[in-house]
Amino acid sequence: MDFNIIRVARVVLNVSDLDRSRDFYVKTLGFIETESDSEHIYLRGLEEHVHHSLVLKKSEKKGVQALGYKVASEGDLDKLALLFQSKGLRTKWLEKGTQHALGRALHVHDVSNLPLEFFCEMDGAERLLQRYDLYRGSRVQRIDHVNCAVPDVQKAYDFFTNELGFSCSEYTANEEEKLWAAWLHRKPCVHDQAFMNGVGPRLHHFAYWLPDPMALIHTCDVLASVGYADSIERGPGRHGLSNAFFLYLRDPDGYRIELYNGDYLTSDPDFKPIRWDLNDERRQTFWGHKAPDSWFNETSPFLDIDTGEQVENSEPTLTQKKPEFII
Ligand SMILES: [Fe+2]
Repeated sequence: MDFNIIRVARVVLNVSDLDRSRDFYVKTLGFIETESDSEHIYLRGLEEHVHHSLVLKKSEKKGVQALGYKVASEGDLDKLALLFQSKGLRTKWLEKGTQHALGRALHVHDVSNLPLEFFCEMDGAERLLQRYDLYRGSRVQRIDHVNCAVPDVQKAYDFFTNELGFSCSEYTANEEEKLWAAWLHRKPCVHDQAFMNGVGPRLHHFAYWLPDPMALIHTCDVLASVGYADSIERGPGRHGLSNAFFLYLRDPDGYRIELYNGDYLTSDPDFKPIRWDLNDERRQTFWGHKAPDSWFNETSPFLDIDTGEQVENSEPTLTQKKPEFII
């Protein structure tokens, strides 16, 4: 392919109460608030040199507006538009300035009906990595990945690897060697985009990189101190799959955010994807403790790029023999 997708770069979420969201993300988790108005809050992590990686948009309609990918050049956007159109997939251009701090953007629905966004240009912002005086809460560093439930993981995997140029770091296969889940990357780490078998397309979680495991543990202490202990859904713990040290939280609107540390390098061309068996419980939690039912059963809807309505979901093509679930 003659275009270059760099990395997952932003998530846009509809939230019902901006002040309540600010209390959680900024005052408690320590996100940097680059800018806000009566309808939006634009947030970034401490090492991010761009305007934002998370947009909270005030709306009564719950849903995820876009999973945004940064590309290397403006020309890549035109090439991506042609690719999606050649597959009969919907595309929509948002000219520069339509979205605050963002250049021209291409919105599409992919083969799973997942709304994706591609852009090249975003306004800059001060990189605060060494402003240790500003480190608060989780000491959030940067956006890392998104994880989506889709009804046909093989179909999503084929499109992302064959058409968009993603590589696979790890995957889960069932007894018949059918693909149950896949971790795909453009940047040289475990993933930008994960797919898991489930009702979808729906967002399971978006994730931010933290500087070390202690930042995750400290987050739990901070959350408990200010009355947000109920937002801790799963962890801290370590996944077998991806080796991630993880903590899953539910924000005030129910969106799941993962705080994450423990990735590894996947840049070598001879790196071989790591296979996990669906019945190997260590892939979920290396230490063996169980995840709550909510983690398996609750996901967030996506919104249509044209209508803004919630995208319809389909049942998964694969079912698991054991009641236990994914990752
Ligand atoms: Fe994750």
